[in-house]
Amino acid sequence: MTDSSDTTIYLDNAATSFPKPDCVYAAADTYMRSMGIAFGRGSHAGATDAARLVAQCRQRVARILDAESGDRVAFTFNCTDGLNLLLRGVLRKGDRVVTSTLEHNSVLRPLQQLKSEFQLDVVYVDFDAQTGLIDTKSFVHELNSQPTRLVVLNHASNVTGIVQPVETISAATHETGALLMLDAAQTAGHIPFSVRDLKIDMLASAGHKGLLGPLGTGIVYIRDGLENEVLPIRCGGTGTDSESPLQPITMPTKFESGNLNMPGLAGLNAAAEWILQQSVANLHQRILKLSTQLSQALREIRGVAVFGGVEAQNVGIVSFSLNGMDSQDVAAVLDQSFQIRCRAGLHCAPLVHKTLGTIPAGGTVRLSPGPLTAQADVTAAAEAVAQLAASL
Ligand SMILES: Cc1ncc(COP(=O)(O)O)c(C=O)c1O
Repeated sequence: MTDSSDTTIYLDNAATSFPKPDCVYAAADTYMRSMGIAFGRGSHAGATDAARLVAQCRQRVARILDAESGDRVAFTFNCTDGLNLLLRGVLRKGDRVVTSTLEHNSVLRPLQQLKSEFQLDVVYVDFDAQTGLIDTKSFVHELNSQPTRLVVLNHASNVTGIVQPVETISAATHETGALLMLDAAQTAGHIPFSVRDLKIDMLASAGHKGLLGPLGTGIVYIRDGLENEVLPIRCGGTGTDSESPLQPITMPTKFESGNLNMPGLAGLNAAAEWILQQSVANLHQRILKLSTQLSQALREIRGVAVFGGVEAQNVGIVSFSLNGMDSQDVAAVLDQSFQIRCRAGLHCAPLVHKTLGTIPAGGTVRLSPGPLTAQADVTAAAEAVAQLAASL
């Protein structure tokens, strides 16, 4: 539950996390009321405070990702913004891209657009519907069959929650000299991992999901030196080198033209501090306990099919269908009769549903607890689905 007077149950953290830790609301509010400054634009003491906040936020996000330094992190407005920035910035005419059917439309659509603009060759490797894992054999085969410039992989599916074997994919990718880009929308702040250990070249994520910041925040990570291969898609004022007609070439300024979302970053900064205090591993365990309990309870209900694979490899997403009912109808009953807020449909990942066979039911119903979800909410959700199933 969100607060003591509110009886709704929010289980849509995969879309955006809610509620956030209190410090996030307080930091965004304080910024708006007491600071209110544009980052990098003022010649006064307040500007120093804003610069300190932005630097602190970069460092904290870099620590969560285990990046080389805060400067490897540039701020965007959401994960989609970051994925567009990276894809459009790094791809060149005639490039070959190997990606997967696990991808979100925020990868599929930019790739489709660039495919016609840049005559790209794009290959989609499928995943196993039982385990939720990418077919690594096919992936390696595709990678080695022709020179490939870029691999783009969804770190964890927003439909099944299953974390992909990035270590294996990374090793195979780098053996061929290709670059590896991760869509970490469902993993940054959700599960502990190191961009350096996994040898990730580029990564985009939302600031408003597992990183627990406000909506309108996102991040990209670009490994040391690789920024030279990424063209800026947005050029303009950066508050630095104003005498030059050219876009700055250094990270992170190269990719941050125009004013940053400072109230959002104030919230993200507080969220990142909270995450580091709690530890990503602890937060993951907390969510995993809830999602495992939920998926096990759902599996016991007649007519329910839960999608995904091994629960331990999940970021905390439970997708299911009920008796072949349209997923939107199930979500509507959960909302209207039980005040449970979840998401139904294709979840912007249409190819996933082709493999899962969930297109006829209009996709899946997705329940996704967050770190502040109460145990009782998960129990109530399972009971609501059981009641609905019994009434059919
Ligand atoms: C896997 C994945 N990629 C990208 C996105 C897009 O994130 P945003 O809404 O921050 O642009 C989402 C959002 O649900 C997602 O789950």
